[in-house]
Amino acid sequence: MKVCIVGASGKLGQYMVQHCLDRGYQVTGVCRPKSAAKLDRFGDRITVVPGFTDDREVIQRAVAGCDGVLAVLVPWGVHGYASGTARAVLEGSEPDCRLVFSCGWHITKDGKDTYSKSFLVMVAVFGWIARLTRLVDIKDQVAACRTIFCSPKKWTVVRGSDLEEGESQGLPVWSRHVGDPVLASNLTRRVDFALFMVEALTNDALIHEAPAIVGCQAPSAVAHQ
Ligand SMILES: NC(=O)c1ccc[n+]([C@@H]2O[C@H](COP(=O)([O-])OP(=O)(O)OC[C@H]3O[C@@H](n4cnc5c(N)ncnc54)[C@H](OP(=O)(O)O)[C@@H]3O)[C@@H](O)[C@H]2O)c1
Repeated sequence: MKVCIVGASGKLGQYMVQHCLDRGYQVTGVCRPKSAAKLDRFGDRITVVPGFTDDREVIQRAVAGCDGVLAVLVPWGVHGYASGTARAVLEGSEPDCRLVFSCGWHITKDGKDTYSKSFLVMVAVFGWIARLTRLVDIKDQVAACRTIFCSPKKWTVVRGSDLEEGESQGLPVWSRHVGDPVLASNLTRRVDFALFMVEALTNDALIHEAPAIVGCQAPSAVAHQ
């Protein structure tokens, strides 16, 4: 399997590279030119395409001939970075390519998620500060996901809970809607978020789904599985 990881140099991206290599996949990673050195530890086991993830030419070159694309969606700045990345991946990838995007619980596909008051306040306050400082534009990640949800291509949008570092605990459990009791613990190991993304490449049941995930050993997952 030939896989492109868009945003390979970040924390989630590097875990995804490792999971893909563990499976014997052929890996191409896209990352900002200044971050390419973060991928040095993988040596010649991966091909690195330096460039911005919303650059259509860069993405088209990187995803050509790939069976799967794993894309880290992060709305950096206020110039549509996440939506530009989503469009570049949707338009540049092969018609049958499996596309898996990452985002957080705040994204809703069908409006049936139910959020706690504290979660909504946190998103509102973070969104306001981020926009004010022009560092991040959460609304652009929402726009990116809307574009993906309207696409006929074979996409999955994986919605991560709060994250922590640590050894893998195994494949996270998922639910269609935030608010389901199984997700209540709201915590996943980052390495397992990456594992879920990579496993989604070969799980056709996740096509056109936006699974919200939680660690499989989180108390709510153990109690409700
Ligand atoms: N962090 C959380 O608690 C959390 C919770 C739920 C879901 N998620 C989701 O998880 C994904 C990434 O999480 P992460 O914690 O692994 O993030 P991360 O390590 O910070 O990686 C984010 C990506 O953004 C890039 N990046 C950083 N600064 C940038 C800039 N100024 N301009 C352009 N690109 C920049 C990084 O590339 P460089 O290597 O070039 O810096 C990397 O590819 C996102 O989809 C996010 O929505 C995160």
